[in-house]
Amino acid sequence: MTAKIIDGKAFAARVRAEVAGHVARLKADHGITPGLAVVLVGEDPASEVYVRSKGKSTVEAGMNSYEHKLDAATSEADLLALIGKLNADPAVHGILVQLPLPKHLDSDLVINAIDPAKDVDGFHISNVGLLGTGQKSMVPCTPLGCLMMLRDHHGSLAGMDAVVVGRSNIVGKPMAQLLLGDSCTVTIAHSRTKDLGEVCRRADILVAAVGRPEMIPGDWVKPGATVIDVGINRIERGGKTVLVGDVDFAGAAKVAGAITPVPGGVGPMTIACLLANTLTACCRANG
Ligand code: GUN
Repeated sequence: MTAKIIDGKAFAARVRAEVAGHVARLKADHGITPGLAVVLVGEDPASEVYVRSKGKSTVEAGMNSYEHKLDAATSEADLLALIGKLNADPAVHGILVQLPLPKHLDSDLVINAIDPAKDVDGFHISNVGLLGTGQKSMVPCTPLGCLMMLRDHHGSLAGMDAVVVGRSNIVGKPMAQLLLGDSCTVTIAHSRTKDLGEVCRRADILVAAVGRPEMIPGDWVKPGATVIDVGINRIERGGKTVLVGDVDFAGAAKVAGAITPVPGGVGPMTIACLLANTLTACCRANG
């Protein structure tokens, strides 16, 4: 079997065009422009790339982008003061603090200082609780993008066996909640799971979110399964730096029914969902 490639880039372009259409109508009919504030502390090169890309996409969708780049030595008090100002600013509908933060800052404290209604990452403890109890919340962008691709490919996910490899607060745990919400039978596997290969081979839907290059080989994939690869890992290969996922793509594509590539799979959907969440936050704020 050769897997169908799930084209996240094309799907994300459709979502972004839809968001841009809504934004244009909001502006024309109500004079409202959604605004997203992105806060970056320090100079982590990967985070700088992500933040630049988020800002560019925000502007391309017709929204206002407010970038706040703070020195790596910024104090917690100064960062919390900025978040307080953004919470109170009616032109800012979404706030994103890029993670990871420098070690001297308490990420939980910082994230929980964001107004939950403006928490477009869905990381605030209120949004985590709302998602876990099936209530209206802000949903984390990467798992939301994965869910949209899965629904688009399968229609209903009800009754499917889903295995999420990785238990992070950003991807693994919210992904599991979303799949449970769509009536999958969900297993969360992680580095201490016994016989991980055997667990993965049970999956109709296999989501890999561990951040370890190509750690899931093709023979861990059930024939015909749908594989969603969240990993974005930079490695040296043949004297060049290349991007690879958490799944051995070549091996898995021979067995899976469908698979997301890296790059061009989950990554573009994450940004599209960030724009969608910002639009949602703006619409909720304006009734
Ligand atoms: N760092 C890696 N992924 C993310 C994300 O989705 N949101 C934020 N804020 N930081 C990240």
